[in-house]
Amino acid sequence: MKELKKIREFNPQAILGKYTKVLVCRACNSKTLHHFLSFGLMPKPNGFLDKKHLHEPEQYYPLNVAYCSTCGMVQLEEIISPNELFDYYVYASSASFPMVEHLKFFASETTKRFSLTKKDLILDVGSNDGTLLSFFQQLGVSILGIDPAKNIAKVANARDIPTINDFFSQKTAKKIMQTYGTCKMMTIVNVVAQIPDWNSLFTGVKLLLRNDGVCIIEFPYLVDTLKTLEFDTMYHEHLSFVSVHSLSAVLQRHNMEVFDVEHDPIHGGSLRVYVSHTGVYTKNKKVQQYLKEEDVIGISKPQIYTLFAKKVYLIRDKMRQVILSLARGKKKIIGYGATAKGNVLLNFCRINSTQIGAIVDSTSYKQGLYTPGSHIPVVPESSLDELKADYAVLTAWNFTDAILEKNKERRKKGLKFIRPYPTPTIL
Ligand code: TMP
Repeated sequence: MKELKKIREFNPQAILGKYTKVLVCRACNSKTLHHFLSFGLMPKPNGFLDKKHLHEPEQYYPLNVAYCSTCGMVQLEEIISPNELFDYYVYASSASFPMVEHLKFFASETTKRFSLTKKDLILDVGSNDGTLLSFFQQLGVSILGIDPAKNIAKVANARDIPTINDFFSQKTAKKIMQTYGTCKMMTIVNVVAQIPDWNSLFTGVKLLLRNDGVCIIEFPYLVDTLKTLEFDTMYHEHLSFVSVHSLSAVLQRHNMEVFDVEHDPIHGGSLRVYVSHTGVYTKNKKVQQYLKEEDVIGISKPQIYTLFAKKVYLIRDKMRQVILSLARGKKKIIGYGATAKGNVLLNFCRINSTQIGAIVDSTSYKQGLYTPGSHIPVVPESSLDELKADYAVLTAWNFTDAILEKNKERRKKGLKFIRPYPTPTIL
């Protein structure tokens, strides 16, 4: 394979991993997927390596993106088995302060709006370390989590957040139903994109949701990604880039519907969508407005995607040029946030430990490891001063404001930040 030969110039240990091709749209079941963007071969986005495995063969997978001309869903063309990605997981919701604040607000707003009480069971799908559920628990709501990562579910259970260690599916939904009954509320926050089988997912939601139940789904909004050009969220864990159109298409097949939509700036722009059984809640006018706006920008048409891809390749080239030129000038460069998306960005731009000496991160699970492909050591955020960096690449660009704020003093002393989007800029 020509691509493998090319990637071996960057990482001689690269081998081709196992994957399956996507042929049918996950949302509307049509065979109308059209390729528009290629990242080449990529290692697993969260495939951080320990020192022992650093020089062993590393698996790479093709990363291609398509849109569906029937419903406007954007999706990856290749899938890695979810067991390989999620059995052991390094992402923890509790590691990013702005995310914790966001989830706290989410819980208090939802509890108020739907008058949740101890009698109401809330199920959080992909509950991670239980951060969101802990806030519902403090508000007196009955809680249950389900998460496939063994290490993370263990952490959640140890902090008294009841968590089933499994994937959410039609099968696990049936088991939950038998043991706990139906749910007044289900939450799926930053998880819907990770689930390959939407038929199983929404059959499970339909089964578990009480007659007057509400399922809140929050996800980075496709329209925002297209506008902000923040392409590095496209990686092997995020299989779907969701719009109101594509979500409505899958819900309709399961006799459910979106009855309200809210926009939130988190993760570069996200939608919080309120779902119920068809006809139970009055539809907010905003639902129709979102659908109309998606039609106006041409969410199911080729033009927007062709333009997006063109701009993505330009950002890649500029980013590489900026970093290489700083490195040639003997500037000390680090990364800020050992994120999965940062790994996509660095590998796509062919930037590695030659140019970037370290990446700081607050997550204990990531510290002491090396980034996949680019092999950059991840060090605690607290060691920032010892690194004496001149530049820090905002690989956690979604938390730009919070990171700049907490580094106010360092910036005064000369530390500069590089934000990759919408075009690589020095701050
Ligand atoms: P995410 O963008 O996938 O949510 O991950 C953000 C990562 O950045 C996570 O590993 C924690 C890290 N981080 C820091 O190290 N310092 C910070 O101030 C923030 C906000 C995040």
